[in-house]
Amino acid sequence: MKLKKSALNVLISAGPTREFIDPVRFISNSSTGTFGYLLAKTAKQLGHNIVLLMGPSNFKPIPGIETINFISALDLKKQMDDYFDWADCIICSAAVGDFRPVIRAKHKIKKNQMMARIKLRPNPDILKALGKKKKNKILVGFALESENLLKNAQAKLKAKNLDLIIANQIDSDKNPFGSGLTNAYLIDSADFKQYDNISKAKLVRIILDRISSL
Ligand code: C5P
Repeated sequence: MKLKKSALNVLISAGPTREFIDPVRFISNSSTGTFGYLLAKTAKQLGHNIVLLMGPSNFKPIPGIETINFISALDLKKQMDDYFDWADCIICSAAVGDFRPVIRAKHKIKKNQMMARIKLRPNPDILKALGKKKKNKILVGFALESENLLKNAQAKLKAKNLDLIIANQIDSDKNPFGSGLTNAYLIDSADFKQYDNISKAKLVRIILDRISSL
């Protein structure tokens, strides 16, 4: 008899990227990595094998979880590619910066030269590239939007060929970064469900149950 494999190899990215302008300055965002960290911890407790790719954050490594740190989007892309074959499921919760400086200056740029020296170029869309080659792997993404949350997230699910997307609302009085509570949609190609003021811990369990059922 063939047994159904229930423990998955889960590759999770979490936290912000940093794109250095010079040795001291960088472009980043407000992500704390809370969601990805909780996902990794809970998925481990449920018996899955986890590799956690973690951007700059204050979290301590979780015993039993292989944690690899990244700084920039290009670092993260390389690590994702290295672990792609290993993974049954990839959850991209990292807040990847969309742009990076064309050149990282060797020396600290003088203030009066800053405006002339900073030129940006787009970072690769890591999740979109994974979606193109995913085959039967489960691919999960996140969307953070300040307007048309559901519609934009549904479009992203399709454009990036995802199995599931978690959409979080951001506006002046609802900022999910670092907070324990969030408002979110869980969306797949057939359906969506809305969760208001739900704890991230609860939402993480719901997401992992959904992944197990896929
Ligand atoms: O397109 P947008 O940045 O809103 O999509 C968010 C999702 O895409 C997140 O899951 C994030 O981890 C992923 N992403 C990525 N590479 C980028 C930008 C976003 O993997 N350059």
